[in-house]
Formats: sequence, structure tokens, C-alpha cells
Amino acid sequence: MPNILVVGSLNADLVVRTPRFPKPGETISGEDLQTLPGGKGANQAVAAARQGANVSMLGRVGKDNFGPLLLNSLQSNHVDTSLVREDDSATGTAIIIVDSNGQNSIVLSAGANGRVSAADVDHVSFSDYSLLLLQLEIPIPTVLHAAQRAHESGLRVLLNPAPAQALPDELIALADFIIPNETELSLLTGQPVKDIASAEQAAMALLKRGPKNVIVTLGGNGSLLVNKEVTTHVSTYKVKVVDTTAAGDAFIGGFAFKILELESLLSEKVEEAVRYANACGALATTKFGAQPSLPTHEDAKEFLSLRGT
Ligand code: RIB
Repeated sequence: MPNILVVGSLNADLVVRTPRFPKPGETISGEDLQTLPGGKGANQAVAAARQGANVSMLGRVGKDNFGPLLLNSLQSNHVDTSLVREDDSATGTAIIIVDSNGQNSIVLSAGANGRVSAADVDHVSFSDYSLLLLQLEIPIPTVLHAAQRAHESGLRVLLNPAPAQALPDELIALADFIIPNETELSLLTGQPVKDIASAEQAAMALLKRGPKNVIVTLGGNGSLLVNKEVTTHVSTYKVKVVDTTAAGDAFIGGFAFKILELESLLSEKVEEAVRYANACGALATTKFGAQPSLPTHEDAKEFLSLRGT
């Protein structure tokens, strides 16, 4: 199996379940606080590794108690952490509220993630990898530099533009795969995205900015693949939702694993990888927490065979 490099964030997720989200100025009680390994970069690294991919993580953690928690989680999932540096600032944290419908609300404190630099990226031997995974919880100039280096070295680039923010065209054009959710797609294009038809319109507008494939994750409505050859809606699987945190990361890890396993970028193969990724994303919503919820390859295979696919 070829190698994946993730350049991104590591967060300690401080999670409380509540019956509902508090209103501004209101105080409500929740369940016991849980401290869990998270961060979009680290989640995607673990998600791909649990599928069987060889994964290296590049990022930064602080010299506090959260750093070892995050490194241990990566290492126990066989992710190589030799490119994760210790930084003088605090480890990144995410304050997460999960309501009784499994929906979440997240506040990030970047900490060491905000110091991941282009110089960190220059330590990487890109020829060791086939695919680069990027998200937006580290500085954008670093994300752009990593994408440029990867592109020059012949790697595929997968960009998950999350959390939502405006991006330079230069970065978007370097993506072989850009995978936004509805909110991120809407922000990137300035178009409303409220259903499959409007997602298709916005995805086509994004495709004009140069990425090879736009894959929009639509939650319970599945995913949409748009490239120069096809526009395909891939429906997902109905499950009992416990917590949606990291469902997008599970999707990306599953997609990255599958597209490398298939060894082809033909549209029908990309669609097959999207279908597999939908299963990984759906499975992640059935469990609580970010990294604890990410499915293994066996979980995904069993789920798909039970669903007759
Ligand atoms: O995608 C889920 C992740 O977003 C959480 O683990 C949290 O750390 C935030 O970064």
C-alpha cells in the first residue's frame, strides 16, 4: 500500500454532551467532561491508518499533558509521528458540545497548530509518499507550501477545506481532490448550498477554479462527485446517529485509502472510492468522539456486506 502524508492539526478535544446547545448568556449542565484525541489532521491520519494505509503525520504539539495523549493515539494506530515537533505554545484544543441529536458545536484554540511552518514542510522527503492530505487548521501559507511541494514531486493532493474559510485560487487549483461539506462549499463559492441541486451548481463553479475533482459531502444526503467527465450523486447509508464529530475525517481517511488501493483516477473508480468513504463516514457517526469513532477496514467491510454492497 502506498504512503500517505498528512500535514495538519492535532487537537485535544474537550467534549461535553448536553441535551441541547446553550443560548447566548445561558448556562446549562452537561455530562462528564471527556478529553479525547482529535484535530482534523490527526483524525484523518488515524482514519486512513485504520483502513490499512501507511501514514505519516506532520504537525506540532505543545510540551503539556495533551501532547503525549495525541502522540500515543497516533502511534497506537501505527501512524508515523517522526515529523511531529514539540512547540513552546500549548497543544491545540477544541471545546466541543454534542447535543442529544449528535450534532456538535466546536470552538478551536490553535496553539501549536498555528506554528506549523513552511520550514517544517521542507524537512519532508516527498518522494516517500503518493498522496498528501491537507485541511485548514494550520496556517494557510503552510498548507499552500505543502501543496506546491507535493505537486512538484508528483504526489496527488487531497484538500479538505475545513474549517470553512476563503482560499487563494492557487491552492484550490493544486488539488486533485477538494472535499468540502455544504457550508465550506458555500463559503468558497459565495453561492447558497441547501440541497443536491444547489450543491451541484456550486461544485461546478468550484471546479472552474482548477481542482480535478470536487467531492461534496452532504451528511445524510450522501456525496456529490463533480469533475470534467461526470456529475454523480452517491447516496449514503442510514444509521442511528450518536455523534457526527469526525464523520468528515472518517470519509476522507476511507476515500484516501480506497483511491490508492484502486490505483486509478478514472471517474468510475473515484465514484467507487466515494461510496466506500460514505460507509466510513456513516460508521463514524454511530460512535461518540473523534478518533474513538473512526472505523477499521474490517468494520467497513462488514458494514458494506451487511448492507449488501
Ligand atoms: O473534524 C473533527 C475535529 O474538528 C475535532 O476532532 C476537533 O478537534 C476539530 O478540529
